[in-house]
Amino acid sequence: MRPSIIVHGGAGTIPPEMLEAHRQGTLRAVEAGWQVLVEGGSALDAVEQAIVIMEDDETFDAGRGSFLNAEGQVELDAGFMDGSRLLVGAVAAVQFIKNPIRLARAVMEKSDHVLLVAQGAIRFAQKMGFPLCELTDLAVPREFERWLRLLYERAYPAQPAMAQVTGTVGCVALDRNGHIAAGTSTGGTPNKMPGRVGDVPMVGSGFYADDEYGGTSCTGWGESIAKVNLARLALHYLQQTGDPQVATQAAIQVLADKVNGLGGIILLTPDGRPGWHYNTPHMAYAYRTAGMDCAIAVV
Ligand code: GLY
Repeated sequence: MRPSIIVHGGAGTIPPEMLEAHRQGTLRAVEAGWQVLVEGGSALDAVEQAIVIMEDDETFDAGRGSFLNAEGQVELDAGFMDGSRLLVGAVAAVQFIKNPIRLARAVMEKSDHVLLVAQGAIRFAQKMGFPLCELTDLAVPREFERWLRLLYERAYPAQPAMAQVTGTVGCVALDRNGHIAAGTSTGGTPNKMPGRVGDVPMVGSGFYADDEYGGTSCTGWGESIAKVNLARLALHYLQQTGDPQVATQAAIQVLADKVNGLGGIILLTPDGRPGWHYNTPHMAYAYRTAGMDCAIAVV
């Protein structure tokens, strides 16, 4: 089996001054994940590596650089799936963790559960030896300023201003053993209610992986994505059509038609063909498959 990897850095409207940072950030992530795969590493390690790079890059709404909630706190969601055994791990509304994708993987590999939230997730993290960080390790000046602006506008929008919402990160990888993994990580939406959880840690909505059917990661307005189980829906269309581009387009069409949703999706077929589609002005994504000399990044 020849390796393949695709990442995204969020669907929405990316301000012109941030386009290049999104391109560079997704490129760095995909090349790091690719390196893991060509050295014979697992899809799980490639997905973790690629997402950690984007969580550490303050360009994105994940890990450092995340949007603040209505109380000026950072609450993070992440989901991880091993398509070879249908194992799932996820965390939601978790604070003071630099790399929630690692914690989601730990839930998958070292607990009997699929989803841990808030204080329970933090206690599990401490038990697993994860260091806790400070709010200021995650919240950057750009986001404090946004929070103050939104505070002033007293916005508690039911549908967030999608024009500005972007930056969830995700990855799907296929390794040399034919195993697929998928993961997604986010700080959620700006000014969200404390405790609000979007699609990202919900298996089948924000992420899905099955060696037999393929893998997906989603981004966009989480409340709409969750209602149509976008990640699993795209794999349903892939089973029907065999075409990754048609499958992602069909899933996004349902998102738009049924729930007036906005978002994007990346996908890998079981043999490593990439697909992507979005109905927002931008989505940052990058991919590399066998036979390519370098990754392609698009914003
Ligand atoms: N898709 C990210 C979120 O809505 O939280």
